[in-house]
Amino acid sequence: MLKYSPEKMKIMMIVGARPNFMKLAPVLERMKRYHDFLEPIIVHTGQHYDHNLSGQFFADLEISQPDIHLEVGSGSHAEQTAKIMIEFEKVINEHPPHLVVVVGDVNSTLACALVAAKCKILIAHIEAGLRCGDMAMPEEINRVLTDRISDYLFPSESSGYQNLINEGMGEESVFFVGNVMIDSLMTSMEKARESQILETHGLQAKNYILLTLHRPENVDDMKILKNILVSVETIAKKTPVVFACHPRTRLNIDKFGLTSYLAAPGIRILEPLGYLDFLKLESEAALVLTDSGGIQEETTVLNVPCLTLRTSTERPVTVTEGTNTLVGSFPERIAAETEKILRGHQKAGSIPKYWDGKAGERIAEAFLKIRKSLFEPETIKEGTRKIKTVRETLAAGG
Ligand code: UD1
Ligand code: UDP
Repeated sequence: MLKYSPEKMKIMMIVGARPNFMKLAPVLERMKRYHDFLEPIIVHTGQHYDHNLSGQFFADLEISQPDIHLEVGSGSHAEQTAKIMIEFEKVINEHPPHLVVVVGDVNSTLACALVAAKCKILIAHIEAGLRCGDMAMPEEINRVLTDRISDYLFPSESSGYQNLINEGMGEESVFFVGNVMIDSLMTSMEKARESQILETHGLQAKNYILLTLHRPENVDDMKILKNILVSVETIAKKTPVVFACHPRTRLNIDKFGLTSYLAAPGIRILEPLGYLDFLKLESEAALVLTDSGGIQEETTVLNVPCLTLRTSTERPVTVTEGTNTLVGSFPERIAAETEKILRGHQKAGSIPKYWDGKAGERIAEAFLKIRKSLFEPETIKEGTRKIKTVRETLAAGG
């Protein structure tokens, strides 16, 4: 049984899958400064459960262990979302918080936001407003729906802010705070530099390509996955490729009988890596090939060239200002762009606005102001969800 302090705003922070941990860590860290007023309760849905997709990040990012674990595990979208909803509703009924905080675009994000909305609990969405325009992607569905039912929207880049305004979200609920993932990167880079991952795998800095792959549109389709692996096999003849392989991808490579494409001596397949080891590999790579969302952002800040194996991105600033280029899954395009970069023709990137290591601080300060507005007796209305808009809250000062 959790014990709440009556003076503190109880904030349920939801994590479930790999990229969630990096996004919440800096917010949790900054909230410590206001521990007299803000009380975080970490809820882990259990969407990811392998040590190297979950537990390792608590150690690497120095996050305290979850207060509540829903242990839902894998399943179809409906099964996973429904299980999280059922379990999270029990939690909310037993320990009603003032605010539920969700991050990013995974199933855990939407599932917990839906439960909170129906239970009339305020919701804050960190990394709100990102849109790739492809509603066939499960993440795009999760983004659009989560934003629609959230009370406080915290976009990470200016396109996110603009998308929310264009979709009719009142300016008063949208607050451009910057990118929490970059906070974690900046905090962790010093420790990551000490990682021995290059030595362990006999790699030389700036002399290998790092590959990650896990989007269903790439890895659940046999033809597309084969196209990508054929490109990788060709590229690896000249430059070593290190493939940090996601379990979804590994399962499908086996299922589709594609393992032979990875047998070339230049290809090294690794299990998913811990955050610090991965950051080290990412920062020292000559080039990153990926379909990850977060890695497009990290490479921009690390000034490492990134070829994204997708035709769209919800993070356009990484293309317009950063080091990212969209190449889809077409072997010729992947090979040509790779060749270009390895010959030294890489984009000159710059750091997007508010990717400055202070997003977590801005969010913690916003929470403090939300608390102030909630705890002012004249603003508390029993049973009313929208107590104050974020703009009113923030304008009121803290
Ligand atoms: C999920 C997110 C995706 C995010 C990715 C980060 C959704 C819809 N997708 O995709 O946005 O980019 O996480 O990595 O939420 N599995 C394991 N061990 C685990 C977890 C999963 O082996 O700890 C395997 C299972 O076979 C599972 C499969 O991976 O069925 C897919 O896992 P799931 O969480 O459903 O989706 P991801 O592809 O990981
Ligand atoms: N990452 C990691 N180990 C890996 C691959 C990625 O720690 O083997 C980190 C990476 O640095 C980034 C995050 O995981 O911080 C990105 O997560 P992922 O690609 O799984 O999800 P997405 O961002 O696409 O939702």
